[in-house]
Amino acid sequence: MRLAGKRALLIGAATGIGRACVEDFARNGAAVVVADINEPAAVEAAALARAHGATAHSVTCDVRDEDSVRNAVDYAERELGGLDTLVFLAGLMRTGAIESVEAATWDAIFNVNARGTFLAAKHAAPAMKRAGGGSFITTSSLAGLRGAPGMTAYAAAKGAVIAFTTALAQELAPANIRVNSVLPGWIDTPFNTPAIDYMGGVESHGEVVRRIVPLGRQGTPAEVSPIYVFLASEEARYITAKSMMVDGGMAH
Ligand SMILES: NC(=O)c1ccc[n+]([C@@H]2O[C@H](COP(=O)([O-])OP(=O)(O)OC[C@H]3O[C@@H](n4cnc5c(N)ncnc54)[C@H](O)[C@@H]3O)[C@@H](O)[C@H]2O)c1
Repeated sequence: MRLAGKRALLIGAATGIGRACVEDFARNGAAVVVADINEPAAVEAAALARAHGATAHSVTCDVRDEDSVRNAVDYAERELGGLDTLVFLAGLMRTGAIESVEAATWDAIFNVNARGTFLAAKHAAPAMKRAGGGSFITTSSLAGLRGAPGMTAYAAAKGAVIAFTTALAQELAPANIRVNSVLPGWIDTPFNTPAIDYMGGVESHGEVVRRIVPLGRQGTPAEVSPIYVFLASEEARYITAKSMMVDGGMAH
């Protein structure tokens, strides 16, 4: 019960890594609100959290829309009686050779990954200050540090998330709010389908993973969620402005 008493809003957490976080937060005693554009999956994730004995709610939220983000934050603060933990996981990936990347695709990727992170922080910070402080965990990617062919827009947006995280951590430290980013490597979710297609399909992707990941395989969502639990917990109270890689050793 490392998160007993924590009140957490997890945005973009209906499926994949986020869903694993919801379950792990619930198992560790947090009360949670799952916010996602995928309403049925968010409802399902909240039900899973309740099955672990947690207080859990869901709210529909499109992180591209400022009013929708503000509404999710207000809902979480109201339903949970305060907000001290914010986890942002919403993501969008598209791949393609640079000459084929539409400006609209670039904007769409930035809107969800980078601008969405900003809107969540902007509207949650006042609530977290009212709670006396807390932990904000953003989600970048190893691609945000190292890039990858065909992923220019996604890598740039995730790089922006890292820079945003370090700037915000310095700004919010006096308010006792820690801000850190998780950088997953290859995690086995359908999110990576555009990357796998760009790499020539499942076979060639698997070959690359075996070659560049020292542990020789993709991770699972449940192998990433524990770092979110740790960063949200009091055990991490002296950790802020950090990028935490969970990548099977890919970056070394
Ligand atoms: N899977 C990986 O290998 C990997 C690697 C590095 C980083 N990441 C990052 O981890 C995060 C979670 O990815 P995942 O693999 O669990 O994929 P996922 O598709 O299961 O999760 C993404 C979530 O974001 C939600 N979402 C998308 N657009 C949204 C919007 N406009 N408003 C609100 N919610 C929205 C989706 O509904 C979904 O629940 C993403 O930010 C992704 O960039 C994933």
